[in-house]
Amino acid sequence: MRYKLLMTRRLSPAVIERARRDYDLELNETDHIMTREELVARCQGKDALLVTLTEKFTPEVIAKLPPSVRVIATYSVGHEHIDLEAAKTRRIRVSNTPDAVTIATAEIAMLLILGCARRAPEGERLLKEKKWGGWQPMQLIGRRLDGKRLGIYGMGKIGQALAKRARAFDMEIHYCKRQRLSPAEEQGAIYHETFDSLLAVSEFFSINAPSTPETRGSVNAAALAKLPRGAIVVNTARGDLVNDDDLIAALKSGQVAYAGLDVFKGEPNIHPGYYELENVFLLPHMGTSVIEARNEMGFAALDNIDAVLAGREPPSALV
Ligand code: DGY
Repeated sequence: MRYKLLMTRRLSPAVIERARRDYDLELNETDHIMTREELVARCQGKDALLVTLTEKFTPEVIAKLPPSVRVIATYSVGHEHIDLEAAKTRRIRVSNTPDAVTIATAEIAMLLILGCARRAPEGERLLKEKKWGGWQPMQLIGRRLDGKRLGIYGMGKIGQALAKRARAFDMEIHYCKRQRLSPAEEQGAIYHETFDSLLAVSEFFSINAPSTPETRGSVNAAALAKLPRGAIVVNTARGDLVNDDDLIAALKSGQVAYAGLDVFKGEPNIHPGYYELENVFLLPHMGTSVIEARNEMGFAALDNIDAVLAGREPPSALV
């Protein structure tokens, strides 16, 4: 018997090919973001759902899923779009893809750090707007990374992968995390027991923590005021960790010199204040947009689905 699988967005050809080989697959051919009604309707009769962060599995949506659904496998490490408690109550397994996204996300964090430090977005604008008058000694003066302190808020897999890359630029790594890493994992990174203590040293501050009730809105005016003046803030985790009004105010006052943001609260509608600023490097949530990660994410999601439908424990179970 072939199980029925809904793939809510158009994934890479290799992932579609494997899913089609192994399942009775329903695709979202036009790759649109489904309304809740369409999502629920398309889930009817399905055994498994391969979903992304654009589908919101609220308690109301989960309550309307048919009893045939046994697993929701998200194609992301972030899982704030799925109410885990509601899924657990319905005895639906939920999984994510924690390993597949690590390197790609760490790379984009490094890109933002470098781009902000060297003011790359302003340089590109100068050329594209045909305003460049030629080389100047004091044009677009940035700063080097070597010897600078990088504070990593959320030292999980991505935070550690970023630390590894930043070390190659001779940055000094600081982090805070509920549980201190082992010396082998720390690789010399300096541990801070509190968020405030991390903020106080972070000339560069990278947000790599998941979106949880505790972290949401935590990068607010009070937190930003504790950074060294002129700090650089980058976010490749989730937009809702940041209070946008407060970050924009800090970017205007110079408390934060530059922000590099790949993720936004309310995506794709970003806070309009960001469009007005010169000192921002903005990317459209493309941290994992490399074919290696896209394939690995899809294969990892399918591995989770295969396991649940075969009665095995999924490799990356959330519930
Ligand atoms: C994730 O894995 O959570 C990413 O944001 C998806 O690109």
